[in-house]
Amino acid sequence: MGFWKDTEDFPTACRALLEEVLKSAQILQDEVSSSNKNIVDTLSIIDLGFGCGDQSLYIKNALDNQRRGKRDDRWERNLKAYVGLTLESAHFSIAQKRLGLEQSNTSTEFEIYCADAGRPTSWTPEIKKSVSVATQGNDEKGDHENWLLGLDTLIHFQPSRWPVIEYANRELGASLMAYDLCIADNLSLKQRLVLRFMASFGQSPFANFVTIQEYRERLVMAGYAREKIEIRDISEHVFNPLAGFLRKKEVELQQYGMSIGRFRYAAGMK
Ligand SMILES: C[S@@+](CC[C@H](N)C(=O)[O-])C[C@H]1O[C@@H](n2cnc3c(N)ncnc32)[C@H](O)[C@@H]1O
Repeated sequence: MGFWKDTEDFPTACRALLEEVLKSAQILQDEVSSSNKNIVDTLSIIDLGFGCGDQSLYIKNALDNQRRGKRDDRWERNLKAYVGLTLESAHFSIAQKRLGLEQSNTSTEFEIYCADAGRPTSWTPEIKKSVSVATQGNDEKGDHENWLLGLDTLIHFQPSRWPVIEYANRELGASLMAYDLCIADNLSLKQRLVLRFMASFGQSPFANFVTIQEYRERLVMAGYAREKIEIRDISEHVFNPLAGFLRKKEVELQQYGMSIGRFRYAAGMK
């Protein structure tokens, strides 16, 4: 969906959304900090629903640069490990190619799998082992954090997003950073019906559509400290700008007799 605050370009907006999530988790800073030059603290990311791998590519670049001694000093911690899961085998194959991992996972620091990220009980022993190794603390000096990343994906998880979030807190001691969807507090019956239709259209369980308050309570029930939960509404920088971008694309494509298809509805076009 993208974070369109300072851009009109889709790939830039997608990267900005990832960076906004990383910044909210205080993993990435806005600007390079000289105090981040000699850091020893580490971080592992369990990435749920990486799609075609845009965010994986971003994190792999950061990891590769770090290995070459050219780390981006906006990162507050050194990356220790990344394990990414995505559901669709077609998306997985695209991501494998983009990441240069066609054969199989070759490094324990960066691994991707095709799996249902929302159901940890369905993960193969290999995935469970990767996640377990990635999320082990540091023997060396320095503090280690584990983070679950859900970028525009948790809303799709069946039967809901909560089993994996509870698992992450309980078994991995992981925090959660996400771009996710919530509903307004007082939806009318008509709006609820429209939402039900949109939920089935977007293949998301209706039960996943909760208010910010309900979301917060579920995080507390999952084991997260209430005072540490931060939820920000960034919708003004997402939906209208995205709809504007889609409308522009539709006009461009129409010149060639093509269309953005079902995204016309998302753009508010009939
Ligand atoms: C809107 S896309 C976002 C993809 C990516 N995170 C991004 O921001 O570019 C949602 C993705 O979540 C994936 N997904 C949905 N349910 C999933 C599940 N249970 N486990 C893993 N991936 C899932 C979909 O296949 C899709 O690729």
